[in-house]
Amino acid sequence: MLNFFSSKKSNQNYTNEGNIDLKNIPKHIAIIMDGNGRWAKERRLPRTMGHKAGVEAIREIVKECSNIGVKYLTLYAFSTENWVRPKDEVSALMSLLMEYLKKEFRELDSNNVVINHIGDISKLPQVCQQELINAYENTKHNTGLVLNLALNYGGRDELVRAFKLMHEDIIKGKINENDINDNTLSNYLDTKGMPDPDIIIRPSGEQRLSNFLLWQCAYSEFWYSNIKWPDFKKENLHKAIYDYQNRDRRFGGVKQS
Ligand code: FPP
Repeated sequence: MLNFFSSKKSNQNYTNEGNIDLKNIPKHIAIIMDGNGRWAKERRLPRTMGHKAGVEAIREIVKECSNIGVKYLTLYAFSTENWVRPKDEVSALMSLLMEYLKKEFRELDSNNVVINHIGDISKLPQVCQQELINAYENTKHNTGLVLNLALNYGGRDELVRAFKLMHEDIIKGKINENDINDNTLSNYLDTKGMPDPDIIIRPSGEQRLSNFLLWQCAYSEFWYSNIKWPDFKKENLHKAIYDYQNRDRRFGGVKQS
């Protein structure tokens, strides 16, 4: 099989088009994959063709993130609000997810990728849940890129679920309410144990968060672009990383002189 990724040990396929600093790669990149519908409309195609083209962009960006040593990539694939879309669009998205997991599993696994998911997947069709669980179980020992597919994900929903779990543990006496701090809450989130996103990328021209990683993005850098997700290529990823590397992150402090 053709190996599109650099191997686990080297990044021989990598070309650094954007002159990014490979020693300062963001640990966690999160992407709101927006603009599939508009991309399709511009071409007089059904919306689902936009999503299909969006999967190609996923392939390219996952490959590139793995090649350049990003540790976590979180992709907003289906939000808690997306259920209100027409039924055939929702089922097309679920089918694309299944197809992606089935088709890409071997290559992702052989390239050391952990196929993880965040969000409340219990509302997804049973077959999707099983495929996601299998993909995670079979890749969880990999040590490369962690690919978080955010599915039936909403930042508010995640926080509500976290509060409920934390409340249960307080009642059981597992934690003391006086000891609750930032870290305690982080440990009940779907992203437990992961660093917060360094950069949130949103293509398609929209400039909003849309209920994505509300807690985790406290100090994330935002990067917007008019490119629609199906047209988002590794060069665009490099530009986002380049811009990120030239930002001044102070985390509420002052710049060292
Ligand atoms: C937003 O664009 C995109 C989505 C809600 C779905 C994203 C899903 C994929 C790219 C493919 C399926 C996922 C996987 C993991 C295989 P939009 O439809 O809101 O675009 P618009 O704003 O232009 O209408």
